[in-house]
Amino acid sequence: MILAAGMGKRMQSQSTKLVHNVAGRPMVRHVVEAARAAGMSRTVVVVGNQADEVRRAVGETDKRIGFAYQDSQRGTGHAVLSAEGHLLGYEGDVLILNGDLPALRPDTLHRFVDFHRASGAPLSLMTAVVDVPGGYGRVIRTYNGDVSRIVEEADATVEEKAIKEINCGIYCVDTTWLWDPLKRARADNAQREIYLTDLVEILRRDGHKVAAFRHPEAEEVLGVNDRRELSAAARALHRRKVLGLMEAGVTVLDPETTFVDVDVKVGQDTVLEPGVMLLGATEIGRGVTIGMGSRVDDSVVGDGTILLPYCVVSSSRIGRACRIGPFAHLRPDTHLDEQARIGNFVETKKIRMGQGSKANHLTYLGDAEIGRSVNIGAGTITCNYDGVQKLRTVIEDEVFIGSDTQLVAPVRVRRGAYVGAGSTITKDVPSHALAISRSEQVVKEDWAKRFSPAARRKREKD
Ligand code: UD1
Ligand code: CA
Repeated sequence: MILAAGMGKRMQSQSTKLVHNVAGRPMVRHVVEAARAAGMSRTVVVVGNQADEVRRAVGETDKRIGFAYQDSQRGTGHAVLSAEGHLLGYEGDVLILNGDLPALRPDTLHRFVDFHRASGAPLSLMTAVVDVPGGYGRVIRTYNGDVSRIVEEADATVEEKAIKEINCGIYCVDTTWLWDPLKRARADNAQREIYLTDLVEILRRDGHKVAAFRHPEAEEVLGVNDRRELSAAARALHRRKVLGLMEAGVTVLDPETTFVDVDVKVGQDTVLEPGVMLLGATEIGRGVTIGMGSRVDDSVVGDGTILLPYCVVSSSRIGRACRIGPFAHLRPDTHLDEQARIGNFVETKKIRMGQGSKANHLTYLGDAEIGRSVNIGAGTITCNYDGVQKLRTVIEDEVFIGSDTQLVAPVRVRRGAYVGAGSTITKDVPSHALAISRSEQVVKEDWAKRFSPAARRKREKD
Protein backbone atom coordinates (compact mmCIF):
# COMPACT_ATOMS: atom_id res chain seq x y z
CA MET A 1 0.00 0.00 0.00
CA ILE A 2 1.45 3.32 -1.07
CA LEU A 3 0.25 6.51 0.59
CA ALA A 4 0.02 9.24 -2.02
CA ALA A 5 -2.99 11.37 -1.15
CA GLY A 6 -1.16 14.23 0.58
CA MET A 7 -0.18 17.55 -0.95
CA GLY A 8 3.23 18.14 0.56
CA LYS A 9 2.89 21.78 1.64
CA ARG A 10 6.56 22.15 2.48
CA MET A 11 7.34 21.79 -1.22
CA GLN A 12 5.73 25.22 -1.87
CA SER A 13 4.37 24.00 -5.18
CA GLN A 14 1.21 24.16 -7.27
CA SER A 15 1.42 20.42 -7.79
CA THR A 16 1.52 17.67 -5.23
CA LYS A 17 5.04 16.64 -4.37
CA LEU A 18 4.32 13.07 -5.44
CA VAL A 19 4.35 14.02 -9.14
CA HIS A 20 7.56 16.05 -9.01
CA ASN A 21 10.26 14.68 -11.28
CA VAL A 22 13.10 12.91 -9.47
CA ALA A 23 15.84 11.59 -11.74
CA GLY A 24 13.43 10.98 -14.60
CA ARG A 25 10.33 9.61 -12.92
CA PRO A 26 7.52 11.18 -10.93
CA MET A 27 8.37 10.71 -7.24
CA VAL A 28 5.56 8.26 -6.52
CA ARG A 29 6.47 6.05 -9.47
CA HIS A 30 9.85 5.29 -7.92
CA VAL A 31 8.02 3.83 -4.94
CA VAL A 32 5.57 1.88 -7.12
CA GLU A 33 8.47 0.46 -9.17
CA ALA A 34 10.41 -0.48 -6.04
CA ALA A 35 7.36 -2.34 -4.70
CA ARG A 36 6.88 -4.08 -8.04
CA ALA A 37 10.54 -5.05 -8.29
CA ALA A 38 10.42 -6.37 -4.72
CA GLY A 39 7.78 -8.83 -5.93
CA MET A 40 4.58 -7.47 -4.40
CA SER A 41 1.64 -9.41 -5.83
CA ARG A 42 -0.67 -6.40 -5.75
CA THR A 43 -0.33 -2.70 -5.07
CA VAL A 44 -2.91 -0.25 -3.79
CA VAL A 45 -2.06 3.43 -4.16
CA VAL A 46 -4.04 5.78 -1.92
CA VAL A 47 -4.80 8.98 -3.83
CA GLY A 48 -6.69 12.15 -2.89
CA ASN A 49 -5.00 15.47 -3.58
CA GLN A 50 -4.67 15.90 -7.37
CA ALA A 51 -5.79 12.30 -7.67
CA ASP A 52 -5.84 12.29 -11.48
CA GLU A 53 -2.31 13.63 -11.74
CA VAL A 54 -1.05 11.06 -9.27
CA ARG A 55 -2.86 8.25 -11.09
CA ARG A 56 -1.30 9.36 -14.34
CA ALA A 57 2.13 9.59 -12.71
CA VAL A 58 1.78 6.02 -11.45
CA GLY A 59 0.59 4.78 -14.83
CA GLU A 60 -2.90 3.37 -14.95
CA THR A 61 -2.32 0.52 -17.35
CA ASP A 62 -0.97 -2.06 -14.92
CA LYS A 63 -3.76 -4.37 -13.74
CA ARG A 64 -1.89 -5.23 -10.53
CA ILE A 65 -2.18 -1.63 -9.36
CA GLY A 66 -5.41 -0.44 -7.73
CA PHE A 67 -6.28 3.02 -6.51
CA ALA A 68 -8.05 3.83 -3.24
CA TYR A 69 -9.49 7.27 -2.68
CA GLN A 70 -9.00 9.29 0.50
CA ASP A 71 -11.63 12.02 0.27
CA SER A 72 -10.06 14.39 2.78
CA GLN A 73 -6.50 14.38 3.99
CA ARG A 74 -6.87 13.55 7.63
CA GLY A 75 -3.51 11.91 8.16
CA THR A 76 -1.54 8.80 7.27
CA GLY A 77 -3.64 6.54 9.52
CA HIS A 78 -6.80 7.77 7.85
CA ALA A 79 -5.18 7.20 4.45
CA VAL A 80 -4.52 3.55 5.31
CA LEU A 81 -8.10 3.08 6.52
CA SER A 82 -9.37 4.51 3.20
CA ALA A 83 -7.83 1.49 1.47
CA GLU A 84 -9.49 -1.13 3.66
CA GLY A 85 -12.20 -1.82 1.06
CA HIS A 86 -9.51 -2.65 -1.52
CA LEU A 87 -8.06 -5.34 0.72
CA LEU A 88 -11.31 -7.01 1.75
CA GLY A 89 -10.75 -10.72 2.09
CA TYR A 90 -6.99 -10.38 2.08
CA GLU A 91 -5.27 -11.75 5.15
CA GLY A 92 -1.54 -11.53 5.61
CA ASP A 93 1.23 -9.00 5.60
CA VAL A 94 0.86 -5.59 4.02
CA LEU A 95 3.84 -3.46 3.22
CA ILE A 96 2.88 0.19 3.73
CA LEU A 97 5.07 2.85 2.14
CA ASN A 98 4.95 6.62 2.18
CA GLY A 99 4.82 7.85 -1.40
CA ASP A 100 7.69 10.29 -0.90
CA LEU A 101 10.57 7.80 -0.81
CA PRO A 102 12.06 7.99 -4.31
CA ALA A 103 15.46 6.53 -3.43
CA LEU A 104 14.07 3.32 -1.94
CA ARG A 105 15.64 0.11 -3.32
CA PRO A 106 13.71 -3.11 -3.98
CA ASP A 107 16.46 -5.05 -2.25
CA THR A 108 15.95 -3.07 0.94
CA LEU A 109 12.23 -3.91 0.85
CA HIS A 110 13.08 -7.58 0.42
CA ARG A 111 15.33 -7.56 3.44
CA PHE A 112 12.77 -5.63 5.45
CA VAL A 113 9.98 -8.12 4.67
CA ASP A 114 12.28 -11.04 5.57
CA PHE A 115 13.16 -9.28 8.82
CA HIS A 116 9.49 -8.75 9.60
CA ARG A 117 8.62 -12.39 8.98
CA ALA A 118 11.50 -13.57 11.14
CA SER A 119 10.61 -11.18 13.96
CA GLY A 120 7.17 -12.68 14.58
CA ALA A 121 5.90 -9.21 15.52
CA PRO A 122 2.54 -8.08 14.06
CA LEU A 123 4.13 -4.76 13.06
CA SER A 124 7.63 -3.85 11.92
CA LEU A 125 8.92 -0.47 10.92
CA MET A 126 12.05 0.83 9.32
CA THR A 127 14.17 3.41 11.12
CA ALA A 128 17.37 5.32 10.38
CA VAL A 129 19.74 7.41 12.42
CA VAL A 130 20.39 10.89 11.04
CA ASP A 131 22.33 13.93 12.20
CA VAL A 132 19.51 16.36 11.49
CA PRO A 133 16.25 14.59 12.42
CA GLY A 134 14.11 17.75 12.16
CA GLY A 135 10.69 17.17 10.56
CA TYR A 136 10.61 13.39 10.99
CA GLY A 137 8.83 11.26 13.60
CA ARG A 138 11.22 10.14 16.36
CA VAL A 139 11.49 6.56 17.58
CA ILE A 140 11.01 6.29 21.33
CA ARG A 141 12.50 3.14 22.83
CA THR A 142 12.18 1.66 26.33
CA TYR A 143 15.19 1.24 28.62
CA ASN A 144 15.77 -2.25 27.15
CA GLY A 145 15.71 -0.99 23.58
CA ASP A 146 12.19 -2.05 22.50
CA VAL A 147 10.26 0.40 20.36
CA SER A 148 7.48 1.88 22.48
CA ARG A 149 6.03 4.62 20.28
CA ILE A 150 6.67 7.19 17.56
CA VAL A 151 6.37 10.86 18.35
CA GLU A 152 5.89 13.37 15.56
CA GLU A 153 8.03 16.50 15.44
CA ALA A 154 4.98 18.71 16.12
CA ASP A 155 4.13 16.77 19.29
CA ALA A 156 7.66 16.15 20.56
CA THR A 157 9.20 17.55 23.73
CA VAL A 158 12.65 19.13 23.61
CA GLU A 159 14.18 15.88 24.90
CA GLU A 160 12.33 13.82 22.29
CA LYS A 161 13.42 16.18 19.51
CA ALA A 162 17.03 15.42 20.44
CA ILE A 163 16.52 11.76 19.45
CA LYS A 164 18.25 11.01 16.16
CA GLU A 165 16.53 7.78 15.28
CA ILE A 166 13.66 8.54 12.92
CA ASN A 167 10.68 6.65 11.51
CA CYS A 168 11.11 6.25 7.74
CA GLY A 169 7.46 5.71 6.79
CA ILE A 170 8.02 2.06 5.80
CA TYR A 171 5.94 -0.51 7.65
CA CYS A 172 5.05 -4.17 7.40
CA VAL A 173 1.93 -5.22 9.24
CA ASP A 174 -0.24 -8.30 9.52
CA THR A 175 -3.81 -7.32 8.54
CA THR A 176 -5.13 -9.17 11.63
CA TRP A 177 -3.58 -6.40 13.69
CA LEU A 178 -4.14 -3.53 11.35
CA TRP A 179 -7.75 -2.49 10.75
CA ASP A 180 -9.39 -2.69 14.16
CA PRO A 181 -6.45 -1.38 16.20
CA LEU A 182 -5.92 1.50 13.76
CA LYS A 183 -9.56 2.53 14.11
CA ARG A 184 -8.78 3.24 17.75
CA ALA A 185 -6.28 5.97 16.80
CA ARG A 186 -7.51 9.49 17.68
CA ALA A 187 -6.66 12.84 16.15
CA ASP A 188 -5.77 14.25 19.57
CA ASN A 189 -2.44 15.71 18.47
CA ALA A 190 -0.92 18.99 17.33
CA GLN A 191 -1.85 18.40 13.66
CA ARG A 192 -5.41 17.10 14.36
CA GLU A 193 -4.63 14.10 12.18
CA ILE A 194 -5.03 10.35 12.46
CA TYR A 195 -1.46 9.15 12.61
CA LEU A 196 -0.52 5.74 11.24
CA THR A 197 2.38 5.92 13.67
CA ASP A 198 -0.05 5.68 16.61
CA LEU A 199 -0.49 2.03 15.69
CA VAL A 200 2.85 1.39 17.40
CA GLU A 201 1.61 2.53 20.79
CA ILE A 202 -1.80 0.87 20.35
CA LEU A 203 -0.29 -2.54 19.61
CA ARG A 204 2.24 -2.15 22.43
CA ARG A 205 -0.58 -1.43 24.87
CA ASP A 206 -2.33 -4.58 23.67
CA GLY A 207 0.82 -6.45 24.69
CA HIS A 208 2.41 -6.91 21.26
CA LYS A 209 5.99 -6.42 20.27
CA VAL A 210 6.87 -3.94 17.51
CA ALA A 211 10.02 -4.75 15.57
CA ALA A 212 12.35 -2.08 14.19
CA PHE A 213 14.73 -2.55 11.27
CA ARG A 214 17.43 0.09 11.45
CA HIS A 215 18.64 0.84 7.92
CA PRO A 216 22.29 1.90 7.87
CA GLU A 217 22.05 4.00 4.71
CA ALA A 218 19.75 6.87 5.72
CA GLU A 219 20.04 8.63 2.34
CA GLU A 220 17.96 5.86 0.76
CA VAL A 221 15.04 6.01 3.17
CA LEU A 222 14.55 9.71 3.90
CA GLY A 223 11.17 11.12 2.93
CA VAL A 224 11.22 14.10 0.57
CA ASN A 225 9.28 17.03 2.01
CA ASP A 226 10.89 20.16 0.57
CA ARG A 227 13.02 21.24 -2.37
CA ARG A 228 16.26 20.66 -0.52
CA GLU A 229 15.37 17.07 0.15
CA LEU A 230 14.14 16.77 -3.44
CA SER A 231 17.54 17.75 -4.78
CA ALA A 232 19.28 15.45 -2.28
CA ALA A 233 17.13 12.53 -3.44
CA ALA A 234 17.73 13.29 -7.14
CA ARG A 235 21.45 13.55 -6.48
CA ALA A 236 21.47 10.24 -4.63
CA LEU A 237 19.67 8.53 -7.53
CA HIS A 238 21.95 10.12 -10.14
CA ARG A 239 25.04 9.13 -8.20
CA ARG A 240 23.80 5.56 -7.84
CA LYS A 241 23.01 5.42 -11.56
CA VAL A 242 26.42 6.74 -12.60
CA LEU A 243 28.20 4.26 -10.31
CA GLY A 244 26.17 1.46 -11.88
CA LEU A 245 27.13 2.63 -15.38
CA MET A 246 30.81 2.72 -14.50
CA GLU A 247 30.55 -0.83 -13.16
CA ALA A 248 28.99 -1.82 -16.49
CA GLY A 249 31.85 -0.36 -18.56
CA VAL A 250 30.92 3.26 -19.19
CA THR A 251 33.61 5.92 -18.70
CA VAL A 252 32.33 8.87 -16.69
CA LEU A 253 35.00 11.57 -16.51
CA ASP A 254 33.36 13.54 -13.72
CA PRO A 255 30.65 11.64 -11.83
CA GLU A 256 29.92 14.71 -9.69
CA THR A 257 28.64 16.76 -12.63
CA THR A 258 27.10 13.96 -14.71
CA PHE A 259 23.34 13.50 -14.35
CA VAL A 260 21.85 10.34 -15.76
CA ASP A 261 18.18 9.60 -15.09
CA VAL A 262 17.33 6.17 -13.74
CA ASP A 263 15.66 4.79 -16.88
CA VAL A 264 18.45 5.82 -19.26
CA LYS A 265 20.48 3.05 -20.94
CA VAL A 266 24.13 3.56 -21.86
CA GLY A 267 26.24 1.03 -23.78
CA GLN A 268 29.70 -0.29 -23.07
CA ASP A 269 32.79 1.85 -23.76
CA THR A 270 30.79 5.01 -24.08
CA VAL A 271 32.45 8.12 -22.64
CA LEU A 272 30.50 10.79 -20.79
CA GLU A 273 32.37 14.06 -20.45
CA PRO A 274 31.82 16.50 -17.57
CA GLY A 275 28.49 18.30 -17.25
CA VAL A 276 26.49 15.83 -19.33
CA MET A 277 22.75 15.31 -18.68
CA LEU A 278 21.05 12.20 -20.05
CA LEU A 279 17.36 12.37 -19.28
CA GLY A 280 14.07 10.52 -19.56
CA ALA A 281 13.90 7.44 -21.76
CA THR A 282 17.22 8.06 -23.50
CA GLU A 283 19.22 5.17 -24.96
CA ILE A 284 22.88 5.66 -25.80
CA GLY A 285 24.70 2.95 -27.76
CA ARG A 286 28.17 1.49 -27.39
CA GLY A 287 31.37 3.40 -27.96
CA VAL A 288 29.61 6.76 -28.06
CA THR A 289 31.17 10.00 -26.83
CA ILE A 290 28.86 12.57 -25.28
CA GLY A 291 30.75 15.85 -25.15
CA MET A 292 30.99 18.22 -22.27
CA GLY A 293 27.87 20.19 -21.41
CA SER A 294 25.51 18.24 -23.66
CA ARG A 295 21.93 17.45 -22.72
CA VAL A 296 20.05 14.56 -24.32
CA ASP A 297 16.50 13.73 -23.41
CA ASP A 298 14.08 11.03 -24.61
CA SER A 299 16.42 10.25 -27.51
CA VAL A 300 18.30 7.35 -29.05
CA VAL A 301 21.97 7.67 -30.03
CA GLY A 302 23.52 4.89 -32.14
CA ASP A 303 26.83 3.07 -31.61
CA GLY A 304 30.03 4.96 -32.25
CA THR A 305 28.40 8.36 -32.64
CA ILE A 306 30.22 11.42 -31.35
CA LEU A 307 28.46 14.38 -29.81
CA LEU A 308 30.99 17.18 -29.56
CA PRO A 309 30.55 19.60 -26.63
CA TYR A 310 27.39 21.60 -25.93
CA CYS A 311 24.74 19.80 -27.94
CA VAL A 312 21.06 19.79 -26.99
CA VAL A 313 19.08 16.82 -28.28
CA SER A 314 15.44 16.09 -27.52
CA SER A 315 13.01 13.39 -28.66
CA SER A 316 15.25 12.48 -31.58
CA ARG A 317 17.00 9.45 -33.06
CA ILE A 318 20.61 9.61 -34.13
CA GLY A 319 22.01 6.65 -36.07
CA ARG A 320 25.37 4.93 -35.84
CA ALA A 321 28.71 6.70 -36.43
CA CYS A 322 27.25 10.18 -36.73
CA ARG A 323 29.15 13.30 -35.77
CA ILE A 324 27.15 16.06 -34.11
CA GLY A 325 28.14 19.51 -32.85
CA PRO A 326 29.74 21.29 -31.18
CA PHE A 327 26.76 23.57 -30.38
CA ALA A 328 24.10 21.70 -32.31
CA HIS A 329 20.39 21.80 -31.44
CA LEU A 330 18.41 18.73 -32.44
CA ARG A 331 14.77 19.40 -31.68
CA PRO A 332 11.96 16.81 -31.53
CA ASP A 333 11.56 14.33 -34.37
CA THR A 334 15.00 14.69 -35.83
CA HIS A 335 15.94 11.32 -37.37
CA LEU A 336 19.49 10.92 -38.60
CA ASP A 337 20.63 7.81 -40.43
CA GLU A 338 24.13 6.47 -39.94
CA GLN A 339 27.20 8.62 -40.64
CA ALA A 340 25.20 11.82 -40.88
CA ARG A 341 26.97 14.99 -39.79
CA ILE A 342 25.42 17.99 -38.10
CA GLY A 343 27.91 20.74 -37.33
CA ASN A 344 28.07 23.86 -35.21
CA PHE A 345 25.11 26.21 -34.92
CA VAL A 346 22.80 23.91 -36.82
CA GLU A 347 19.19 23.56 -35.67
CA THR A 348 16.95 20.73 -36.82
CA LYS A 349 13.30 19.88 -36.19
CA LYS A 350 11.06 17.16 -37.65
CA ILE A 351 13.52 16.04 -40.27
CA ARG A 352 14.81 12.81 -41.62
CA MET A 353 18.36 12.83 -42.95
CA GLY A 354 19.80 9.92 -44.92
CA GLN A 355 23.07 8.09 -44.59
CA GLY A 356 26.22 10.17 -44.90
CA SER A 357 24.48 13.49 -45.44
CA LYS A 358 26.00 16.64 -43.95
CA ALA A 359 24.91 20.02 -42.68
CA ASN A 360 28.09 21.28 -41.16
CA HIS A 361 27.56 24.96 -40.40
CA LEU A 362 24.97 27.59 -39.41
CA THR A 363 21.81 26.04 -40.79
CA TYR A 364 18.12 25.58 -39.99
CA LEU A 365 16.43 22.43 -41.24
CA GLY A 366 12.77 21.97 -40.29
CA ASP A 367 9.97 19.79 -41.69
CA ALA A 368 12.33 18.32 -44.24
CA GLU A 369 13.03 14.98 -45.86
CA ILE A 370 16.70 14.76 -46.82
CA GLY A 371 18.12 11.79 -48.71
CA ARG A 372 21.51 10.05 -48.74
CA SER A 373 24.86 11.76 -49.40
CA VAL A 374 23.40 15.23 -49.48
CA ASN A 375 25.61 18.23 -48.82
CA ILE A 376 23.89 21.19 -47.22
CA GLY A 377 26.04 24.31 -47.42
CA ALA A 378 26.63 26.82 -44.65
CA GLY A 379 23.75 29.15 -43.90
CA THR A 380 21.03 27.09 -45.56
CA ILE A 381 17.50 27.68 -44.32
CA THR A 382 14.34 25.71 -44.96
CA CYS A 383 11.61 28.36 -44.93
CA ASN A 384 8.99 25.99 -43.58
CA TYR A 385 6.44 28.43 -42.17
CA ASP A 386 4.24 30.69 -44.27
CA GLY A 387 2.70 32.39 -41.26
CA VAL A 388 -0.20 29.95 -41.12
CA GLN A 389 1.07 26.43 -41.63
CA LYS A 390 4.22 24.33 -41.65
CA LEU A 391 5.27 23.11 -45.11
CA ARG A 392 7.67 20.39 -46.20
CA THR A 393 10.94 20.51 -48.06
CA VAL A 394 12.20 17.41 -49.85
CA ILE A 395 15.86 17.06 -50.80
CA GLU A 396 16.56 13.81 -52.61
CA ASP A 397 19.73 11.68 -52.63
CA GLU A 398 23.09 13.16 -53.68
CA VAL A 399 21.86 16.72 -53.90
CA PHE A 400 24.28 19.60 -53.35
CA ILE A 401 22.84 22.73 -51.74
CA GLY A 402 25.20 25.71 -52.04
CA SER A 403 25.83 28.02 -49.10
CA ASP A 404 23.30 30.66 -48.10
CA THR A 405 20.35 29.01 -49.78
CA GLN A 406 16.75 29.50 -48.79
CA LEU A 407 14.41 26.66 -49.68
CA VAL A 408 10.89 28.07 -49.62
CA ALA A 409 8.56 25.18 -48.84
CA PRO A 410 6.72 23.35 -50.22
CA VAL A 411 9.59 22.55 -52.55
CA ARG A 412 11.46 19.51 -53.83
CA VAL A 413 15.04 19.26 -55.08
CA ARG A 414 15.31 16.06 -57.05
CA ARG A 415 18.06 13.48 -57.06
CA GLY A 416 21.56 14.64 -57.95
CA ALA A 417 20.58 18.30 -58.52
CA TYR A 418 22.76 21.30 -57.63
CA VAL A 419 21.62 24.56 -56.11
CA GLY A 420 23.99 27.49 -56.58
CA ALA A 421 25.12 29.46 -53.54
CA GLY A 422 22.95 32.35 -52.48
CA SER A 423 19.79 31.05 -54.15
CA THR A 424 16.21 31.43 -53.06
CA ILE A 425 14.50 28.28 -54.30
CA THR A 426 10.76 28.53 -54.72
CA LYS A 427 10.15 25.95 -57.48
CA ASP A 428 11.02 22.26 -57.70
CA VAL A 429 14.46 21.48 -59.14
CA PRO A 430 14.62 18.60 -61.65
CA SER A 431 16.99 15.70 -61.27
CA HIS A 432 20.66 16.49 -62.09
CA ALA A 433 19.84 20.13 -62.93
CA LEU A 434 21.52 23.25 -61.60
CA ALA A 435 19.19 25.82 -60.07
CA ILE A 436 20.52 29.25 -59.37
CA SER A 437 18.38 32.25 -58.50
CA ARG A 438 20.62 35.16 -57.71
CA SER A 439 20.88 38.35 -59.73
CA GLU A 440 23.71 38.74 -62.27
CA GLN A 441 26.86 40.33 -60.90
CA VAL A 442 27.46 43.91 -62.11
CA VAL A 443 31.07 45.19 -62.31
CA LYS A 444 31.78 48.92 -62.59
CA GLU A 445 35.38 49.45 -63.60
CA ASP A 446 37.40 51.95 -61.47
CA TRP A 447 34.26 52.80 -59.48
CA ALA A 448 36.00 52.54 -56.10
CA LYS A 449 38.96 54.68 -57.00
CA ARG A 450 37.14 57.80 -55.84
CA PHE A 451 37.39 56.46 -52.28
CA SER A 452 41.14 55.96 -52.44
CA PRO A 453 43.32 58.13 -50.14
CA ALA A 454 44.84 59.87 -53.20
CA ALA A 455 41.39 60.88 -54.52
CA ARG A 456 40.41 62.19 -51.09
CA ARG A 457 43.52 64.32 -50.78
CA LYS A 458 42.80 65.77 -54.22
CA ARG A 459 39.19 66.62 -53.22
CA GLU A 460 40.39 68.37 -50.03
CA LYS A 461 42.93 70.44 -51.96
CA ASP A 462 40.23 71.58 -54.42
C1 UD1 B 1 5.43 10.74 8.23
C2 UD1 B 1 5.41 10.01 9.58
C3 UD1 B 1 6.72 10.31 10.31
C4 UD1 B 1 7.89 9.87 9.47
C5 UD1 B 1 7.84 10.51 8.09
C6 UD1 B 1 8.88 9.88 7.21
C7 UD1 B 1 3.07 9.98 10.26
C8 UD1 B 1 2.05 10.54 11.17
N1 UD1 B 1 4.28 10.48 10.36
O1 UD1 B 1 5.48 12.13 8.52
O2 UD1 B 1 6.73 9.62 11.57
O3 UD1 B 1 9.09 10.22 10.12
O4 UD1 B 1 6.56 10.31 7.47
O5 UD1 B 1 9.03 10.58 6.02
O6 UD1 B 1 2.80 9.08 9.51
N2 UD1 B 1 -0.53 11.07 3.12
C9 UD1 B 1 -1.79 10.66 2.69
N3 UD1 B 1 -2.89 11.15 3.31
C10 UD1 B 1 -2.81 12.02 4.35
C11 UD1 B 1 -1.52 12.42 4.80
C12 UD1 B 1 -0.42 11.92 4.16
O7 UD1 B 1 -1.90 9.88 1.74
O8 UD1 B 1 -3.87 12.40 4.87
C13 UD1 B 1 0.65 10.54 2.42
C14 UD1 B 1 1.51 11.64 1.80
O9 UD1 B 1 1.12 11.90 0.49
C15 UD1 B 1 2.92 11.06 1.89
C16 UD1 B 1 2.84 10.14 3.10
O10 UD1 B 1 1.48 9.91 3.36
O11 UD1 B 1 3.26 10.31 0.75
C17 UD1 B 1 3.51 10.77 4.31
O12 UD1 B 1 2.91 12.00 4.58
P1 UD1 B 1 3.76 13.24 5.06
O13 UD1 B 1 2.86 14.38 5.24
O14 UD1 B 1 4.95 13.43 4.19
O15 UD1 B 1 4.20 12.70 6.50
P2 UD1 B 1 5.28 13.30 7.44
O16 UD1 B 1 4.73 14.46 8.17
O17 UD1 B 1 6.53 13.51 6.68
CA1 CA C 1 7.15 12.93 4.63
